[in-house]
Amino acid sequence: MKIIGTGAVHPTCAVSNEMLEKFLDTTDEWITERTGIKERCVISSEKLEDMAYEAAKRALEDANLTAADIDFLICSNVVNEYVTPALSCIIQGKLGATCPTVDINAACAGFIYAMDIADDKIKCKKAKNILIVCAEEPSRMVSWQNRSTCVLFGDGAGAAVVTEGDELKAIRLTTSSLTEVLYYQRHLEPTPYINKDENFEPLVMKGREVFKHAVSSSCKDIRRLLSQTGLEPNDIKYYVLHQANKRIIDSIRNFLGVDESKVPHNVERYGNISSAALPALLDELNRGGKLQKGDKLVFSAFGAGFTTGACVIEWAK
Ligand code: ACO
Repeated sequence: MKIIGTGAVHPTCAVSNEMLEKFLDTTDEWITERTGIKERCVISSEKLEDMAYEAAKRALEDANLTAADIDFLICSNVVNEYVTPALSCIIQGKLGATCPTVDINAACAGFIYAMDIADDKIKCKKAKNILIVCAEEPSRMVSWQNRSTCVLFGDGAGAAVVTEGDELKAIRLTTSSLTEVLYYQRHLEPTPYINKDENFEPLVMKGREVFKHAVSSSCKDIRRLLSQTGLEPNDIKYYVLHQANKRIIDSIRNFLGVDESKVPHNVERYGNISSAALPALLDELNRGGKLQKGDKLVFSAFGAGFTTGACVIEWAK
């Protein structure tokens, strides 16, 4: 498999730390020091499906393909307005594509899970060109009265087109059921027969535990992949890591012992946009002319579940 196109869209409403200070018991200093986040873009008038469509369109243009060339569409999403139909069906219709589609939820690691599924489909010749769209609005899962969670997230969409190739050198997925450290329960309709207590609460997160799992699992995944491919940390051009918190990114970088220039980040501008973070950062590197054919990249992400995904890929464009 190889990546031949990328695209991303962020909402227009940029919320700075100073804007949060006006209604939350928080400070720019606290948020910057603990997370590195200075602002996040959150959905206001936009619809997530429109952002997803636009990111997909940009990725298709970058790949010099049209919707008719796509054989399969995977949408990675945790939450959106529709429980059904799947977001991928809505995106398919907007694009005018006719291929089968599916939504997956592997939380913030969704992009790597989608890459793994795409790689399998390509390998067994069930599809040639696959569109991956990661579209997320975590700002709608948190209570905006809770300073511990709402400051961390933003919304956005990132997309990538993948096709046949030998550029995916190694990939690793893990799931370890640790549901109590990070969860969000859906509010379901009552029925005449429900006789159990059901409490709806916004996103619950044990920040410190998530932090520890994020660093240790990401480091483990990367270490395994480097040893599997016989690469040294400095052979990698960029480590494209999940953008949840600059301190998590710095801890992983310290473990790898690589220069800051190898670990790009945009969490300071967008906050944590869940699975859209990886393709959006990749798109920034791609459109910023930072990637050259043959560059080796490591992707690594972690999310609620606890899920992790990482891969080594060579840039093909
Ligand atoms: N402003 C000011 N004070 C705050 C804020 C805030 N925004 N948020 C929390 N505090 C306070 C707490 O109330 C607490 O006060 P107390 O000591 O009086 O009780 C104090 O700061 C320390 O709180 P901690 O939670 O212990 O702070 P910590 O240093 O662990 O930082 C943070 C919190 C930033 C959430 C950190 O734990 C973290 O980044 N964890 C990982 C979060 C993450 O990455 N989540 C998503 C990953 S998975 C996915 O992407 C879906």
